[in-house]
Amino acid sequence: MGKYKIAAIGGDGIGPEVMESGLKCLDAVAKYIGFEFLVERFPWGSDYYRAHGQMMPENALEILHGFDSIYFGAVGDNEIPDDVTLWGLRLVICQGFGLYANVRPAVMLPGVRSPLREELSNKINWVMVRENSEGEYAGVGGRSHRGFAEEIAIDASLFSRVGVERIQRFAFDLARTRSEKHLTCVTKSNAQRFGMVLWDEIFAQLAQEYPDVKTDKVLVDAATARMVLNPSSLDVIVASNLHGDILSDLAAALVGSLGIAASGNLDPSGNNPSMFEPVHGSAPDIVGAGIANPIAAIWSGAMMCSHLGEKVASSRLLAAVAEVAKANEVLTRDLGGAGTTEDVTKAIIDALERDDLDLEGFNRIGS
Ligand code: IPM
Ligand code: MN
Repeated sequence: MGKYKIAAIGGDGIGPEVMESGLKCLDAVAKYIGFEFLVERFPWGSDYYRAHGQMMPENALEILHGFDSIYFGAVGDNEIPDDVTLWGLRLVICQGFGLYANVRPAVMLPGVRSPLREELSNKINWVMVRENSEGEYAGVGGRSHRGFAEEIAIDASLFSRVGVERIQRFAFDLARTRSEKHLTCVTKSNAQRFGMVLWDEIFAQLAQEYPDVKTDKVLVDAATARMVLNPSSLDVIVASNLHGDILSDLAAALVGSLGIAASGNLDPSGNNPSMFEPVHGSAPDIVGAGIANPIAAIWSGAMMCSHLGEKVASSRLLAAVAEVAKANEVLTRDLGGAGTTEDVTKAIIDALERDDLDLEGFNRIGS
């Protein structure tokens, strides 16, 4: 029987709430199928910062390295500045472990309403591949002449050949596994004349190596319009760190709610543990109310199962999510329901434990 060591970091806000829901579902699916998650929880995040002056201990990466995967809640606090919380935890893990591929599926769940007309929305089946280690989030820059009239601040976007090539190759490989085999490169090389031009050049070079993958290129501003007006023209999308960040929120809104948007921060080499987390963040406004949508965390858990090689568990979790969405009886407020986090979690567990669960019913959900 497979056993997987999982480091669970709930973090801030609703992070711990949705993470616990996800862990319940992961446990249930593992039991159903016959493997085991050995979960260790780490109380890192903003409360830890208030007590210890840092978001996590110095040797956090050393500790985490001993795990097969990291299951993450959220980070972000009303009192502590975002750059402290984010740079002190999530980005340290992503950069420290080389989790350079951020994968964010956006698929229309049955029964969920999109703000788009149905004939457009029912075509949405995308995977956003966001560069996760450099670009606009490289942390390169600085400020000087603080407080003076001539004060300046610079954030440099960093694009390295190694960094660009590995993320684009990852996206090509992913596109190759899908029925559409279509990869769209998001760029802004008309305005950003260096990094984004390198980005485009490497994309064109790689395209030669993948003749079976259909490719095209779109400016990031035009990409927003295309996602809304012609969603079926997209399949796998590769974008820089910031472009991927922005477009993935749009994608989540188009498939009904940020509350269902899942992600994996992957080290494709497998040398380090990958980290799986909902996209939505800490949502301080609804902390403790018990109404956070657990689907994004559960879906991220399904991605973790898939990454660990437990493909059947992954499909079963996603099928259960789809089943509950389709029934449209127990859903949280963001999806138009009145259910609590606990109600939805229970409904999903009930569904995934059903022997007659339609596993094919939603096999389109990518992970
Ligand atoms: C995300 C989030 C983060 C990001 C925030 C919390 C800095 O929006 O994961 O998409 O921009 O990367
Ligand atoms: Mn974001």
